[in-house]
Amino acid sequence: MLSDRDFFVVEPSEGELLNSLFEDEHPLYLEIGSGKGEFISRYPISHPDWNFIGLEMSEKRIRNCLKKLSVELNPNVRLARKFVDAGISQLFRPSSISGVFIQHPDPWPKRKHHRRRLFRQDFLNSLAQILIPGAQVQISTDHNEYASWIVEEFLQNPHYTSMQDDPIQLHPNLDEHIVTWFEEEQRRLGYHPHFMLYERI
Ligand SMILES: C[S@@+](CC[C@H](N)C(=O)[O-])C[C@H]1O[C@@H](n2cnc3c(N)ncnc32)[C@H](O)[C@@H]1O
Repeated sequence: MLSDRDFFVVEPSEGELLNSLFEDEHPLYLEIGSGKGEFISRYPISHPDWNFIGLEMSEKRIRNCLKKLSVELNPNVRLARKFVDAGISQLFRPSSISGVFIQHPDPWPKRKHHRRRLFRQDFLNSLAQILIPGAQVQISTDHNEYASWIVEEFLQNPHYTSMQDDPIQLHPNLDEHIVTWFEEEQRRLGYHPHFMLYERI
């Protein structure tokens, strides 16, 4: 019998594209860094005609996500254990992704670690290749300095435009926002997320 892990988790081999994980042709959305799985288990339920892949590098976190997923409620979800970086364009067909969600990417606060940050030009260029024009990239972080860094990186990149009057918003109108475990923890400590929304031009 197929286990939940067999159903949800894919371990792509080198060069394998993840577009064909689903049998239907529904729009494909990504979450990067699914953590304990609040977003990937809940948001797709209200979007049954979209497919979602959670890209998460940690095996422990993949197991956390699996505890929240069920084949009955989440048939449109898959998880891939992957470290995401500028190689993301090797995982999907060009212009095939309808949107990306990233909540609380690791901020790597020390200056000597800034080169490990996800939001850098090489990643944004690579992501641009796989996004459909009009696809949105939704980001939240409670880290002030990383939020400003992210805005600056997007500003320097020709492939995106901010969808907000102020590129960083503290109280955006995100009716469907899912509060993740990390967000809840940080709010308890007095930190509030900054929200950013970009569109692939
Ligand atoms: C701070 S946690 C946030 C988790 C979740 N999004 C939340 O808001 O609760 C960052 C998560 O992203 C994962 N992660 C960090 N860098 C990653 C990368 N480059 N590729 C894939 N996953 C990554 C970590 O394993 C961790 O689960």
